[in-house]
Amino acid sequence: MPNIKKENDLYIPSGDLQEKAWQNDKAIYQKASDDPIKFWEELAKELFWFKGWEETFKAQNESLNSQPYFEWFKGGKINITSNIFEKNPLGFDKIKNKIAFTWIGEPTEEKPRTFTYEELFREVNRFANALKNLGVKKGDRVAIYLPVIPEVIIAMLATARIGAVHSVVFSAFSSAALQARLQDAQAKILITADGYYRRGKVINLKQSADEGIKETEVEKIIVVKRAGNEIAFQPSQDLWWHELTEKESPECAPEIMDSEDLFFILYTSGSTGKPKGTIHACGGYAVQAKFTGKWIFDWKENDIFWSTADIGWITGHTYSCYSPLLNAATFIIFEGSIDWPNPERWASIIEQYKVSIFYTAPTAIRMFEKYGADLIKGYKFETLRLLGSVGEPIDNGAWQWYFQEVGHGNCPIVDTWWQTETGGILISSLPGIGPFKPSFTGVPFPGIKFDILDEAGKSVQANKEGNLVILSPFNPGLLRGIYKNPEKYFDTYWSKYGKNVYFTSDSAFKDENGLIRIVGRVDDVLKVAGHRFTTGELENIICLHPDFIEAAVVGKADEIKGEVPIVFAVSLVDKGLDDLKKGVVDQIRKEIGPIASPQAVYIVEDLPKTRSGKIMRRILKKILTGEDLGDLSTLANPQIVEKIQEIVQADIKNEA
Ligand code: WTA
Repeated sequence: MPNIKKENDLYIPSGDLQEKAWQNDKAIYQKASDDPIKFWEELAKELFWFKGWEETFKAQNESLNSQPYFEWFKGGKINITSNIFEKNPLGFDKIKNKIAFTWIGEPTEEKPRTFTYEELFREVNRFANALKNLGVKKGDRVAIYLPVIPEVIIAMLATARIGAVHSVVFSAFSSAALQARLQDAQAKILITADGYYRRGKVINLKQSADEGIKETEVEKIIVVKRAGNEIAFQPSQDLWWHELTEKESPECAPEIMDSEDLFFILYTSGSTGKPKGTIHACGGYAVQAKFTGKWIFDWKENDIFWSTADIGWITGHTYSCYSPLLNAATFIIFEGSIDWPNPERWASIIEQYKVSIFYTAPTAIRMFEKYGADLIKGYKFETLRLLGSVGEPIDNGAWQWYFQEVGHGNCPIVDTWWQTETGGILISSLPGIGPFKPSFTGVPFPGIKFDILDEAGKSVQANKEGNLVILSPFNPGLLRGIYKNPEKYFDTYWSKYGKNVYFTSDSAFKDENGLIRIVGRVDDVLKVAGHRFTTGELENIICLHPDFIEAAVVGKADEIKGEVPIVFAVSLVDKGLDDLKKGVVDQIRKEIGPIASPQAVYIVEDLPKTRSGKIMRRILKKILTGEDLGDLSTLANPQIVEKIQEIVQADIKNEA
């Protein structure tokens, strides 16, 4: 019996997958929408709390000017690690010998490392004790700058165990990006590694860490020995992870946290150079992480789940750490690039490790597709039963390829929409209920109220595009603030439609069935291969370079990466074009990392501007796509447009 059947243009789950799913009762939607607070409360009761909450949801108050604007399960006492381990509602004795995760290193000859729930618990406690001995207390910020190795999960859980606040910084970020995050979070401890493997090379991460802690409050660096590469080691400052944990006890009492206590900070690109620290709270995040994963990925006893996202991003936090662990699921984490040392590395991992649920990004799917179906002809993918996508809209072509070539037409695709800010998935049809429709992300998770509004705040009709918003009561995992920046919190999310409406900055529409299709961002966020950057951040960084006085960055559609940054920069210095272009690229690599490298740099005399001096990025975009530029009479300098067009066209000709 197939797992999915087609009815007109919709795909409906069927067979075993539908029948045995954790959630397969359509009535849940009505029930949750009738009383969303009660719905979340019932789910929350399935977790372990040291003490129950006093108020389930505290509605926000229009006059409230301090973050957060709303609270969940306030007064409830919880520790997420107790829910994973010793007080796991499933019974720790029942799960302790189960494999929590298997780590796969990039070098193919390397032995994988496997942790049972009990082994993981012991390592977490050891490291938690080590942190305590270094003086780390509840509320202290601990920065984690690690590649995808088991220690990244251990470090996060150990921090949570003692009530400290982790701020994980993606290991491919540059030292300058690390420094900005350390400064903002005022972390005193940084956890890093000597190095890690990336496309066959060893990356010296410790060197970036050493650079990154300059002018910060970091006092100690804990170093995991991963690649065995030579590093600078200062005994007064640096500590080896293995030496530190060796003699520690494998037991450590959990810190008892209030549901609304600060759980973790995760930075995302701000609209200026400064990254925004999104704040997540202990209780609400745990409840949402547990049930979104359980119902959307439908983990069962024998499932092997693999999410390809790096743990340094929110997808990694929630679905390569907390959510599967809260559900006692078994998952895989992988250090390397999914197309290294050969383009089918990902396929061989699925086959070899019997992955049954595979979660990745459209950019990866498009890359697989480009390599062609021949590449994976030899793979049967017989263990797969469910596929997932995240991070950007998945177009119909990529959806079909994923569905047919990887899922063999028998696996639903959960296209999951969410954000760093939302803490967990908020839109995705459920594998036990459906329906699924190519390029539509699906229906909202039960209990979440979305609307699509026009600029005046009025709901738009079906099939009309508008701004996607979340209505009160907000999901329990939604961010509670921007670290040390309540103004930014208000401006970004709550100023457009008032404090009762969370503005996602995405544009979307709904079809007649209520399925939502995400069109894209309406702000200056670019999604480059699923990674999030803002054009403003890149522009600021370029202008920090002494050679440039002005820059405009626009996103250009890209077949594989979805979108790529294109830079237009104005320079007054007398240097060769190639040098100037290289200057821009190097500056971005230095300040953020190679993942934000522009696809093209155009050195121009001036940028198109309105009379009030506003840069018209819209015109630059049209120049790139060759669209009709329309009326240029509002520009202060219309003559510049033709010159820029010539530069861009010459470049395109060159490429061809
Ligand atoms: C986009 C990633 C279409 C969206 C979890 C959102 C998506 C931004 C989808 C957040 C999807 C995420 N379909 N677009 N399934 N998932 N997005 O913070 O624009 O890195 O606002 O979180 O990614 O990116 P972030």
